[in-house]
Amino acid sequence: MSRAPSGETAVDKLSPAEAKAELKRLAAEIARHDNLYHQKDTPEIADADYDALRRRNTAIEMRFPDLVRVDSPSKRVGAPPAGGFAKVRHAHAMLSLENAMNDNEVREFFQGVRNFFRDPRDVARVEPDTIAIMAEPKIDGLSCSLRYEKGRLVLGATRGDGVTGEDVTANIRTVKTVPQELKGKGWPDTIEVRGEVYFVKHLFAELNAERVKAGEPAFANPRNAAAGSLRQLDPAVTATRPLYFFAYAWGEASKGFANSHSDALAKFKEWGFAINPLSKLCHGVDAALNVHAKLAEQRASLDYDIDGVVYKVNDLDLEERLGFVSRAPRWAIAHKFPAEQARTVLKAIEIQVGRQGTLTPVAKLEPVTVGGVVVSNATLHNEDEIARKDVRVGDTVIVQRAGDVIPQIVGVIEDAAHAKRPKYKFPHECPECGSPAVREEGEAAWRCTNFTCPAQAVERLKHFVSRDAFDIEGMGEKHIAEFWQDKLIRSPADIFRLKAKQIEEREGWGKLSAQKLIAAIASRKTMPLDRFIYALGIPQTGEATAKLLARHYRSFTRFRTAMTTAKDKDSAAWPELLNLHGIGEDTAADVVGFFGERHNRKVLDELEAEIDISDYAAPTAGNAPLAGKTIVFTGELQAMSRKEATTRAEALGATVTSSVSAKTSYVVVGAAAGSKATKAKALGVQMLTEDEWLKLARG
Ligand code: IVH
Repeated sequence: MSRAPSGETAVDKLSPAEAKAELKRLAAEIARHDNLYHQKDTPEIADADYDALRRRNTAIEMRFPDLVRVDSPSKRVGAPPAGGFAKVRHAHAMLSLENAMNDNEVREFFQGVRNFFRDPRDVARVEPDTIAIMAEPKIDGLSCSLRYEKGRLVLGATRGDGVTGEDVTANIRTVKTVPQELKGKGWPDTIEVRGEVYFVKHLFAELNAERVKAGEPAFANPRNAAAGSLRQLDPAVTATRPLYFFAYAWGEASKGFANSHSDALAKFKEWGFAINPLSKLCHGVDAALNVHAKLAEQRASLDYDIDGVVYKVNDLDLEERLGFVSRAPRWAIAHKFPAEQARTVLKAIEIQVGRQGTLTPVAKLEPVTVGGVVVSNATLHNEDEIARKDVRVGDTVIVQRAGDVIPQIVGVIEDAAHAKRPKYKFPHECPECGSPAVREEGEAAWRCTNFTCPAQAVERLKHFVSRDAFDIEGMGEKHIAEFWQDKLIRSPADIFRLKAKQIEEREGWGKLSAQKLIAAIASRKTMPLDRFIYALGIPQTGEATAKLLARHYRSFTRFRTAMTTAKDKDSAAWPELLNLHGIGEDTAADVVGFFGERHNRKVLDELEAEIDISDYAAPTAGNAPLAGKTIVFTGELQAMSRKEATTRAEALGATVTSSVSAKTSYVVVGAAAGSKATKAKALGVQMLTEDEWLKLARG
């Protein structure tokens, strides 16, 4: 058996040139082993050695993100599923949009855009009364990314989870209005054009009738028909389906090709794409809202489903400065059409226990179709909400569904029968473990008090393996519950000790699926610090907070030590944590509390023995000139709002904090700065004027 070469240079010692050569070698080596394993069934190396190759590749890529190869093994997540589609990593993530549910939320959004800027020349371009906005129908289909190299379509991918999608190139080629080759000129050598694949409405009923005749299940709506048709294993079948594509966005582009969104759409049209004819360039929020009102009326007569209007800041230089908040752009918002409603009967109220012990009431409904989707569960939020709406079991209720949001109960029909039914009494004990539940003053939720409550443990495990955390493919919520039940997995570390043998004999599993699961688990034995922190399910610690903590503390050892020390509020670790921009006192207390729990410490010790937590990868110097720097802004800035300055500094790799210490790298001093400037001077911290900061920020 050939082995990974011994005596290889440690990843943190590699020079960029060595790293480049090493990534090339690893790509070839891993591809060879993939082929031997998956295609020829004749592996040459042990799984552990293969994993080590992949781990090394990932570690190098994290240190040198600029060197990631087009054919990098990390872009191929495992093997193509038997008879399925290969996975592809998007060169630029495919993000989603924040939703606005009414005119007010749209106005607030544009006020936020306005407040982001400071310089009067910028402000003049974003005043809500006059700002240039592209208003486009929000197509209810399936978003796809089409990659063109030298004008030829080379890859068509579904959105997937936004980071990784499925390679559906052969099928995409059969979609009408997708050019195989770009027309006209001026397109970048590499360009990913993004948009929506949709199924035309007038042929939807016909397709369903055929399916039912053939004994196949009907599609619930045209969007599902589009997804089902595009994900056909046989592209010849896809070709028979009435699928079309509207282009409305882009990902990677090897050069700039437009100054505004409307320019970009015009270019797409020249290059041979279909652009939605109802998209409209507006000036001012009122005009944009008008498009929404008109489209709401037109909606039923269109031959494709739309579920709202997307507003985009038209000027691309402003877009770029606005940037993103976690997964959604700050320069666009989806204004949804009003929710669809239906009546049905409430059969029961079930209490679900969350991973932090919260008891959430769930309405069990007589199934009913709401806006094309069958609904049988709806959330009831909490005790007060049930009392406020006076929801009683047996009532006829109005259910509402808006987009992907969990269906809600809007109200009950207060007939004579309703008055005779008993009022609902919220339980005061955990339905899963029988322990007393408490509702603390000022809180809306009842909570199970038993930390070892099985329902909580299962929920924590589900979170641990979920998509944004460890993302273990093939280990769904159902499996976690079953494995827990049978004592295969009781704590996160158990996942990494699972053996194929334990799984393959279980109902619904076989040798192949068990091996696949074990491989999926093995591929997660190295986890970047930010995802790891998120996976722990610390109260109030979502992805953004996890990232913030990872960026500041860099290694898990440092983070854990700091959180343990911070228990002592007089230690330096506590103010250091509080000082992080974006961490409030409540969150800080929860994080520190988490590390103080004996049970959690044991879970962490065990996990650390099973997996590698990679240090937060500081982006390489090329695109992060402020990596590792800590910045404090004080006083009033003229050219940028505080928010823009913070976003910009973070994009350049810096951590922004709110108070000055000896560890602060720079204090940016605006007009009328007070004590922070004085303190910086006293500590000898480097101070920057606004102009100096702008020079840094704008490179
Ligand atoms: S722009 C960075 N424009 O809506 C944001 N999205 O909720 C890029 N969608 O995933 C998206 N019509 O599938 C954009 N005219 C339009 C759209 C549109 C439909 C979908 C798209 C996206 C989802 C976000």
